[in-house]
Amino acid sequence: MKKIIGNFKMNQTPSQTKDYLINFLPRVDATKNEIILCFPATSLTTAKFLVEGRGVKLGGQNICDEEINHNMGEVNGVMIREAGAEYVVVGHSERRSKYKENTRTNNRKIKIALKNRLKVILCVGENLAERNTLKMLDSLKNQIEESLKGIYENELQHITIAYEPIWAIGTGKLPTNKELENAVKAIRKVICDDFSEKAGQSIDVVYGGSLDAKNIGQYLKLDTIDGFFVGGSCLDPAGFAQIIKLI
Ligand code: 13P
Repeated sequence: MKKIIGNFKMNQTPSQTKDYLINFLPRVDATKNEIILCFPATSLTTAKFLVEGRGVKLGGQNICDEEINHNMGEVNGVMIREAGAEYVVVGHSERRSKYKENTRTNNRKIKIALKNRLKVILCVGENLAERNTLKMLDSLKNQIEESLKGIYENELQHITIAYEPIWAIGTGKLPTNKELENAVKAIRKVICDDFSEKAGQSIDVVYGGSLDAKNIGQYLKLDTIDGFFVGGSCLDPAGFAQIIKLI
């Protein structure tokens, strides 16, 4: 069973979410793959009632890195969980680049998410400069180690690592199978070294960046990957359902 995660980013009002799900849900089989839809916080409650009993899960796109209430404009774990989220995304590159979030922020968010019984999708990935100067593996190692500082091995079962090379997000550029395999291997090795061999082999690692119905096929035979994180191509319900059918 693969994880297929849709990242709606800043798309879908509550009424658009309703229309989307009415179209999408009958097209997918949530017993074959784990389907997780990460809607904006304002759409979660609408989505929660529509996905009920359908096996499709929901994720939040953000969680505040502090537990105090004086955090204007932020959402906390209790809020998104009650709104329907089972997962929350942490460390997405758009949050890192535009909102200056870093591995310390990720670390606080992960701890707060787990405390609130939310599963975490932790995004990591190198930028183009790191890729071009062969610093990719160091960058991945650093992002994972800093973000997971103080996390216990038994908590890793609630964490999925999303490998999202920044240069591949929304660009139409994709890693080759070999590059993707190497990155996933490197991610597992960090977990093996810092936790245990078993943890490194069993942690879920998914890939995200410019996936669509035409290119996803090339990655399907890679058994080191546990799933896919889809951005732009999840916005059309029929198109996303088509992608899911291929997996
Ligand atoms: P795209 O699929 O639009 O490249 O976005 C990927 C992404 O950011 C998933 O989190």
